Parts: sequence; structure tokens; C-alpha cells
Amino acid sequence: MKKTAYINEKIKRFNKRIYVPGDKSLSIRFVLMASQAIGKSVAYNLLYSKDVLSALNVIRKLGINFNIKRKYCEIYGKGLNGFNFKDNTTINAGNSGTLARLIFGLLLNTKKNVILKGDKSLSKRDFSRVIKPMRIFGQNIKSKKNKLPINIKGTNYPRPINYFETKGSAQVKSCILFAALKTAGEIKIKCIPSRNHTEKLFKYLKLPIKIKKEKNLEIISYKGIKNFKSFKYKIPGDISSSSFFIVLTLLSKNSKILIKNINVNKTRTGIIDILKIMNAKIQLKNKRIYKGENIADIFVESSAKLNPINCPVEMNSRVIDEFLLIFLVCAVKSKGVSKFNKIGELRNKETDRLKFADKLLKKIGIKTKITKDSFAIYGNPNLNLKKKYEIKEFDKDHRACMVSFIAALSLGGNWIIHDVDSIKTSFPNFISLLKNLGAKIN
Ligand code: S3P
Repeated sequence: MKKTAYINEKIKRFNKRIYVPGDKSLSIRFVLMASQAIGKSVAYNLLYSKDVLSALNVIRKLGINFNIKRKYCEIYGKGLNGFNFKDNTTINAGNSGTLARLIFGLLLNTKKNVILKGDKSLSKRDFSRVIKPMRIFGQNIKSKKNKLPINIKGTNYPRPINYFETKGSAQVKSCILFAALKTAGEIKIKCIPSRNHTEKLFKYLKLPIKIKKEKNLEIISYKGIKNFKSFKYKIPGDISSSSFFIVLTLLSKNSKILIKNINVNKTRTGIIDILKIMNAKIQLKNKRIYKGENIADIFVESSAKLNPINCPVEMNSRVIDEFLLIFLVCAVKSKGVSKFNKIGELRNKETDRLKFADKLLKKIGIKTKITKDSFAIYGNPNLNLKKKYEIKEFDKDHRACMVSFIAALSLGGNWIIHDVDSIKTSFPNFISLLKNLGAKIN
């Protein structure tokens, strides 16, 4: 993959059916859960992107073997006490916040010291969100200002905890659930709902998880140490990766796309609901259920103007990875002001995505109002871009990079996009899929 991409032409009309790679959240969870199962687990369509390869490398460093084949990946788990490694082993989570946060949970009962590292962007991110609950469990954690590198050592006597998770973070919730696997006694998490793949995987594996609704919150409880058997899983396509193509289709003229076999778990489909509220033509076809997850094909047609939106805050965690795309749609397809509140979490992603969105939209001539945790966009559906637009300095954030491709291909002008190899983090064949639709990218 070249480091810099040049786009000087809008994409022409297309009408295609595509497959996007496996879901990243599920792929990372599969690798980590399979490392705790007893025996050989197999995943088909595992996402072979940098983040998932980092997860595989981490479990290998902790003493777990695996086999990577083109169509499937086998992992040889050794149960809940199966990690085996030397004292002061360094593990590297690369760019993956999900991997780095979730692995704390699995290290709750280790007797040796682990040093957790990450790349430059991950090393800027704050880990207090997992350090806080894990210290209550009894894990020994040493860090400078809650940043990587972090020293982690387990405890012989994990304390069952009661924890209120207030960020709507699936990473924090899943970290605690992984730790719960290794804790005798009942743990309870009260939380703002967020993606629930870990819970669904626990249920599928018949692990004793209980979930109750309480007003807008969820109370999740888990009791007892229970080893579980290896399992097989076919990873469905990733809705976050599909979203780039959903939006490209909406923003292009006279085009259609069918995106096959996508995980349309309710906790992830905020983008579809928001775009539908804005009046976009999107349909879910061939709906089915696989191991508790909802799967469907997504059909999208180009759109004339859309309506602006005042985004309900309850949507935020359901669209957390798709905000950049939604902002772009509001900016260039709707006339009027779109408003987003309580979205400060965007500033804690691979890059400060709120700042990035503000810079990108201003660059293409869109008026915005930004605060610490809100964003207002003054949409202009009559943009006609002709200038030169250069995208750089985004901490190699894969989603910031890919959204720039979508803007370039649908809006015109001459674009130079740097650090294109960041895309390998989540979607290695993104550019080849765009080219299959007819995009001209140099
Ligand atoms: C993820 C949770 C989300 C999301 C990330 C993947 C997961 O992060 O942004 O890309 O797989 O659990 P938060 O938990 O910080 O919201």
C-alpha cells in the first residue's frame, strides 16, 4: 500500500454487490475468548487487519498457539488459567484500544508481570477507565499518568466488584466481564448500554451472565468461575466498514449498493437509524440470526437532499465509530443545522475525531460550531469543490483516513491523503473495493 493517495475525480455511478471483511469487535473478542476456552476454537472470516493481528500476537506472547489459514484461524486455548509466560513479558497492542483495554480483564489472575505497550497514538490515550475498576478487583497496576506503557500483575484473590460504568464504553464493560470470568463471587456492572458482543458471546457459550434493564441503564451480573469448551464462529461483515460504502452511495449520483452478510446488532446500527431519520433510502434484507447476533444484507440507493438532524444523545454509543461519516453527510447533503451533544468521547479515539471533523468540514467550506463535547454543522448541499485539499496529521487514525477518501470521491476537487497505510488497522482491502466500484485512486 502506498503512503499517499491522490484523488482528482468523483466516482462515477455504480450498481454493485460487495462483501466487506469480518467485524473487528467480534474478531478481537473471538481471539481473546478462544484463548480462554479449552481446546481448539475456529473462526471463519476472521478479520486479518493490524488490530486483530496484534491480538493474535498478544495471546502468542502469553503462551497460546494458533494457526492462520486463508479461510479460517484456529486457536488452541488452555482454559482460564492457561496463560504461560516469563516474568516481565512485554505485549504490544499496536493501535488497538479495544485489545489494550480488554486484555486487562484476562490478566486478572496472572502471577507474573506483564508490560503493556502500544503505538504512538495508543500511547497518548488514557487508561484510567480500566485501571480504576481493575484496581478494585485487586490487580496490581503501575503506570505514569494512566498512559502506556503499563505494568500489570494479577492477584490470587480477585474481589468481586460492583461497578457503575458511566461512559457507555463497551471496552470497559468487556474488560470487567473478562475479569469476572476469573473471579469467584458475583460481579455487577451498572452501565449505559453499548455494543453487547461480549454478552452475546457469553450467552452463546452458556456462561452464567444475567442482564436486566433499569430505566435507561443495564445491570449485568456474572457469578462463578466456569471453564468453557472451544467453539466455532463465522465472523459476519463489519457494519463500521460497510458504513463507508453506505455513505459513498448516498453521496454519489444514481448509484446502488448491496452489502452482504453484515452484523446489524442493534447496538451498532445507529448509523442506519440516523440516516433513515434524515430520510435516506436504506433497507435491511435477508435478516437472520447467527449465534445471537443479527445479520442482514444492507441495500442503499443514492439520495437527493436529506434532512438535518438533532441527534438524540441515546444514539451516541450506537454510532460511536461512525460519527465522522454522519458529520460528512450532514455537511454536504442537508440544508440547515445538525446538532450533536455529549460526544466528548470522540476526542479520546485514535485521534481527536471531533477536532479532525471540524478541520475537515471547515476545509471544504462548511460552517461549524464546536465545543468541548458538542458539534453543530451548517449543511450546504450545493457544494462544488474545485480546490486542492490535503489531509495529514491525523495520528494515523484509520477512520479519519477512510472518511477523507469518501469525501474526495463524492465531492470533487484535488485531494492528497497522507498516511494511507493506517487503513490496514481495520480494513485492508478498502482501496481495492473502492477501485472495484470504479474509483480512480493514484
Ligand atoms: C469497541 C468499543 C468502542 C469503539 C471501538 C470498539 C469495542 O470503544 O469505539 O472502536 O470493540 O468494544 P469505547 O468502548 O471506548 O466506546
